[in-house]
Amino acid sequence: MKTLWKNCHIASMAHGKYSIIEDAAIVTSGALIEWIGPQAELAEPEHDNCIDLNGAWVTPGLIDCHTHTVFGGNRSGEFEQRLQGVSYAEIAAAGGGIASTVRATRAASEDELYASAERRLRHLLKDGVTTVEMKSGYGLDLENERKILRVIRRLGNTQPVTVRATCLAAHALPPEYTDRADDYINHICNDMLPALAAEGLVDAVDAFCEYLAFSPAQVEQVFITAGQLALPVKLHAEQLSSLGGSSLAARYKALSADHLEFMTEDDAIAMAAAGTVAVLLPGAFYFLRETQLPPMDALRKHGVPIAISTDLNPGTSPGLSLRLMLNMACTLFRMTPEEALAGVTFNAARALGMSATHGSLEAGKVADFVAWNIERPADLAYWLGGDLDKRIVRHGVESSI
Ligand code: NIG
Ligand code: FE
Repeated sequence: MKTLWKNCHIASMAHGKYSIIEDAAIVTSGALIEWIGPQAELAEPEHDNCIDLNGAWVTPGLIDCHTHTVFGGNRSGEFEQRLQGVSYAEIAAAGGGIASTVRATRAASEDELYASAERRLRHLLKDGVTTVEMKSGYGLDLENERKILRVIRRLGNTQPVTVRATCLAAHALPPEYTDRADDYINHICNDMLPALAAEGLVDAVDAFCEYLAFSPAQVEQVFITAGQLALPVKLHAEQLSSLGGSSLAARYKALSADHLEFMTEDDAIAMAAAGTVAVLLPGAFYFLRETQLPPMDALRKHGVPIAISTDLNPGTSPGLSLRLMLNMACTLFRMTPEEALAGVTFNAARALGMSATHGSLEAGKVADFVAWNIERPADLAYWLGGDLDKRIVRHGVESSI
């Protein structure tokens, strides 16, 4: 089935730039882009279908490369506490924070988790997201991490979106292992990861490297196990303090290191050399009222690819709009709208190891795109949220979300 999508302008995001083609057309064949270019150069195309995009701006489908979409309960009570001046670390130390979401997630059935995650996912999809990564990390034992990862796979099989599953068993210390962090890491490496990987539930492995979570030495063990299982790694690093997690991630050729407010220039040099993507999370920065900015100058100077994501989670970023994150990346981190859009397309695909097939509109890549009824590409970062008028195409078929 060949479709001609005509009468549009394109920001293809090839090489991480707008790479604009005005008065353009796209020919899709099945799920793939067969041809893309100026409409005037299209010689009498053969097609089964012709769709007039009425002058819309077409971008790649948006990619949300760091989310914790599947969880039980919510933490709006902690939000109120933090507004009274209690810090995220104090709440965590008092048994709240991630631990409270772990209790709610363990108590929820697989169907309940699916239903609540599907409601949150719908917001992302309506915003133009066609690929999303989701992490486990609120189960913290084999049975409950499996439950979350199964929900993630089920969302990928039933919803109109490509889903990548990341195992974040090393997110926090479960209550059964109080004061025995090394034992929990051994359990992850010896039992949990091998079992979950064997069940086909894991596409990548993540950990939280922080003084209130796991040390670089403990994270390294998890990375070694991931390597033995042939799984790529990612890392929550330098969110609250500088422990060198991002350099460690680079040593293990991580797909990405994420958060990074407290990273150093040396970390940036290591990440650039390894091709590790910096995933910046303006929603968490904003929601925690963080004041330390990620080192934008060092990231740019050393050529570290930058991605942007919602970090959708109940504690630090209940963010339901990836497009809102574009605006926040510009206003809070001083990114340009072009850099921000590359952060949710070209570089987000790299952060998921999917750059051969996703993240830009080029012949041979997957036909996931959004035709936006906007004046110019920067409008995507300009509007503060809202449901912009758009048509969403996934695998070459218009999707009705
Ligand atoms: O990405 N930093 C650690 N993990 C999440 C927050 C988890 C939570 O507070 O529930 C994050 O910000
Ligand atoms: Fe996160």
